[in-house]
Amino acid sequence: MKATALAHPNIALVKYWGKRDEALILPHQSSLSLTLSPLSVTTTVEFGVSSDQVELNGHTAKGSERERVLRALETVRAEAGGKLGPARMVSRGDFPASAGLASSAAGFAALAVAARAAAGLPADPKAASVLARRGSGSACRSVQGGFCEWRRGERADGADSYAVQRFDEKHWPELRMVVAILNRDEKEVKSRDGMKHTVDTSPYYEAWARDAEVEVPRAVEIIQRKDLEALGELSERNAWRMHATAFAANPPLCYMHPNTLGLIQHLREQRKKGIPVWFTLDAGPNPVLLTDAAHEVAAEALARACGAVDVVRCVPGGDATLKSEHL
Ligand code: PMV
Repeated sequence: MKATALAHPNIALVKYWGKRDEALILPHQSSLSLTLSPLSVTTTVEFGVSSDQVELNGHTAKGSERERVLRALETVRAEAGGKLGPARMVSRGDFPASAGLASSAAGFAALAVAARAAAGLPADPKAASVLARRGSGSACRSVQGGFCEWRRGERADGADSYAVQRFDEKHWPELRMVVAILNRDEKEVKSRDGMKHTVDTSPYYEAWARDAEVEVPRAVEIIQRKDLEALGELSERNAWRMHATAFAANPPLCYMHPNTLGLIQHLREQRKKGIPVWFTLDAGPNPVLLTDAAHEVAAEALARACGAVDVVRCVPGGDATLKSEHL
């Protein structure tokens, strides 16, 4: 009745930005990401306690955070036959929520794997991915390691909208992602609100969704042949296009800070000097630099020279896994 899982966050190279179903978290387009190690979130779920308890990073969760966790646990109870009773969930991340990476992705992936195991359900990456998706869309891509593709799916109930692993974490071990933390403040507009606003008001939205869909198979083909330059170019243009849809929203939405743009421009200069480094950027000011093992130290140095207050160097991470020690 008790299980614990550890999962890593992921960074999208082809991004998810916009839902076709807000309640089920169904995206307008497919996306593709890399799971990142060593950052992780560990989550314990125990059914059959006296009342529902949800604890995130040492705090009792409230409001919509608590609701999202309880909804996921309810789904597991229903699948397991409904007699598991109230649950205690404790989750702890080894990186700050403001690190510029969505800890919710790792958190809901760990929750999905732990809750299914605690309920006695069989290990099933597809079912865990669907469950994680309903907590936080991008979480469906953190159930498995390496490069994962979240297929948008066609069904109205979302049963075919989940992530599949395209290449595991051993496929391209020299690849590095360097998170450049330029600003630790909570962002003003959460991804969830920003993407809804973009879907509702940006005249560029339709073009964005169409474009992202066709970039996914291109990215898969590039990753297959481990072409860093081609992957760098693809992830940069995908990030620019996602941000362009947000710039074009009404009122406009800009997640970049002046030093975000400064760093991005600097990368261009560095590439001219032969340093292979590109960026991607989620809905926030902190770029993630894409490079190889031979240049990760140089990438960190240039992030710091452009004002990074902290830098996290990441390698391709593995699957969400069950642990024997509980929280
Ligand atoms: O899953 P959410 O609600 O955290 O949204 C993620 C949105 C982006 O990080 C901007 C893109 C992505 O695909 O991860």
